[in-house]
Amino acid sequence: MNTGSYQVTKIASNVENEIERLKGQVELFWNKELKRYIEFGLRDGISLVELGSGPGFVIEKIKENFPDIQVTAVEIDSVLVNYAKNYFNKKKIKNVKVIKKSIMETGLKNDTFDLAITRLVLEHLPDPLNAVREIHRILKPGGKAIFIDNDFEMHLMTYPHIPKLRKLYDAYCQCRYSEGGNPKIGRELPKLLKKSGFVNVDFEIINAHSEVDGDQKFFKSEGLGIPSKLVQEGVLSSKDLGEILIDWRNMLKDNNHSIIRQLYMAVGEKTLQEP
Ligand SMILES: C[S@@+](CC[C@H](N)C(=O)[O-])C[C@H]1O[C@@H](n2cnc3c(N)ncnc32)[C@H](O)[C@@H]1O
Repeated sequence: MNTGSYQVTKIASNVENEIERLKGQVELFWNKELKRYIEFGLRDGISLVELGSGPGFVIEKIKENFPDIQVTAVEIDSVLVNYAKNYFNKKKIKNVKVIKKSIMETGLKNDTFDLAITRLVLEHLPDPLNAVREIHRILKPGGKAIFIDNDFEMHLMTYPHIPKLRKLYDAYCQCRYSEGGNPKIGRELPKLLKKSGFVNVDFEIINAHSEVDGDQKFFKSEGLGIPSKLVQEGVLSSKDLGEILIDWRNMLKDNNHSIIRQLYMAVGEKTLQEP
């Protein structure tokens, strides 16, 4: 059963739009993420596992660059497992095994993978530490794991500043906390990795900026699905959402407008020899 604060059929007002938003979120950060993934060992011929792989858009991008990687995709939600399998078929993406399992107990063998990617998943789990431990278990000695999450203390920021966006983020955080997630987990990632046995832990923030990446990519990676659901759930008033939308449009009319957003990334390595 999927416990935690992300269920694709519930988090937003429309599933198809939510899946498109996930795609936009991959596209927004992809160039910068890819550089980091390569630095941390992504290359042809390795065995890769993606945990909480969702619709499969990260794997699609990886396969465009490295077609000979063997990939295992672990995903708990049947809607997304089926979506990913169909998507990979349609796009003729080969050598990807999608398994319907929880990140908490993958059923995969010890010491199997060279690289693990877990993107925007830990922030939705009630027990992220044990998820990181499970990933450590399935990595080969010397293998690396990359974790990417949000920290909603800082999310999308704009010039001109839109102070009311804070209300939206607070409403979002209230919902995710009440479901057992932790939308401010970004800052905790290095500690979680160390507690799980990872060594050579590193941490950085990946940024996207509208002047570099274009406004369109931000529009696609945000959307109204989640804010509308917050209104439906009564944690954000429709008046506040309406005012945010007006401020957003005015912000875009400013010739000097800027939008920025960041993701928090931690990487760690499994020791070659157990202590
Ligand atoms: C925000 S989406 C991110 C999807 C993908 N990693 C990406 O970056 O586009 C979170 C994903 O984690 C999955 N998920 C949540 N809890 C999980 C669990 N316990 N085990 C495996 N996957 C889980 C969700 O179903 C969803 O596909």
